[in-house]
Amino acid sequence: MTADAHLAHWRVPPSPVTPLTWRGGWRDGVLDLLDQTRLPRHELVVAHTDAETVIAAIRGLAVRGAPILGVAGAYALVLAARAILQQDPTLDRPTFLTRLTARAAAIARARPTAVNLPAAISRHLALAHQTPGSPEQLADALLAAAQGLDAYERAACAAIGRHGAEWLKPRARFLTHCNAGALVTTGIGTALAPLYVLRAAGYAVHVHACETRPLLQGLRLTAYELSKAGIPHRVLADGAAAGLLRTGEIDAVIVGADRIAANGDVANKVGTYALALAAFAHGVPFVVAAPLTTLDPETPDGTMIAVEMRPDDQRAYLDPNAHPLELRVHAPAFDVTPAKLVTCLVTEAGILETPDNELLAPWLLRAARLQQAPPADR
Ligand code: MRU
Repeated sequence: MTADAHLAHWRVPPSPVTPLTWRGGWRDGVLDLLDQTRLPRHELVVAHTDAETVIAAIRGLAVRGAPILGVAGAYALVLAARAILQQDPTLDRPTFLTRLTARAAAIARARPTAVNLPAAISRHLALAHQTPGSPEQLADALLAAAQGLDAYERAACAAIGRHGAEWLKPRARFLTHCNAGALVTTGIGTALAPLYVLRAAGYAVHVHACETRPLLQGLRLTAYELSKAGIPHRVLADGAAAGLLRTGEIDAVIVGADRIAANGDVANKVGTYALALAAFAHGVPFVVAAPLTTLDPETPDGTMIAVEMRPDDQRAYLDPNAHPLELRVHAPAFDVTPAKLVTCLVTEAGILETPDNELLAPWLLRAARLQQAPPADR
């Protein structure tokens, strides 16, 4: 079937797509976060009033996904700054900054692989050090920076959606892994954004979502999100994906990223590398969609990315009704896909096919500039 015939086959009337919008955000000194561990059964928004509970939410995956980790971390830093001031309103600036630096380190350490979190914390901490004024003024500057990042990520999603949809347009049947939609950022998502844009423009979209063992982000979160948006989808066992790619039932694989190294290597949810290999073997485009805040100019290649291990994941592998086993697991949370398997990288800056150091250079420069100043100032 030619691309056009294929497209005609799938063309449907435009449909109002309503992707989820971020059900969290800053509200008078409180950070609201949707507890993703309770989805899809319960839509529970938790009000966080101190940095410690935000750190716990990040560690426990109540808030997860690279861009939202950066935003939540930035707001946690504001909460930390306010708590330090509340404890001692007469604090001098150097002591305030020393205490803030210690809190910042704890927030940045909460999850290591997604670069958005440590990058946002180091950028906003540097801003606090550079901003003249009293500790109260520094806390205000941190809030403005967090709100700037929040707005930046929202706009980045919209642009990723537009650029990605343009590139993907003749295609209708997508495969995705983990969850890289509206739950992971403050806008309509990263990997799912182009699919929402395509559907809204009247292109038929069907998504196969890998369940994403062992924590089931695909089954629990992507399926939930796609149902809410009215996008037809099916969940499949991770092990079924290669077969689906072989039989020609997928037009493109599209995933998000937690960290993209300077040479284009991509760290994403464990299982992504296997998908990229299978897509390559069967000539299916493998597309990565992420904001520039996920690009890490400091990390030369994927071998330098620290992959988070989940040491206590045994429970996720066990049937609770099974005979108790002494189970030892190998539980990396992420894996690294070499750049040479990436057909196309989509960011808010546009599209890059077969990314490498040279092609990525202008984007790395932009990412480095973003890192030097809060996105709102760019
Ligand atoms: O462990 P998680 O659920 O935080 O991992 C998130 C991912 O790896 C997602 O695939 C996503 O693409 C990265 S965030 C847009």
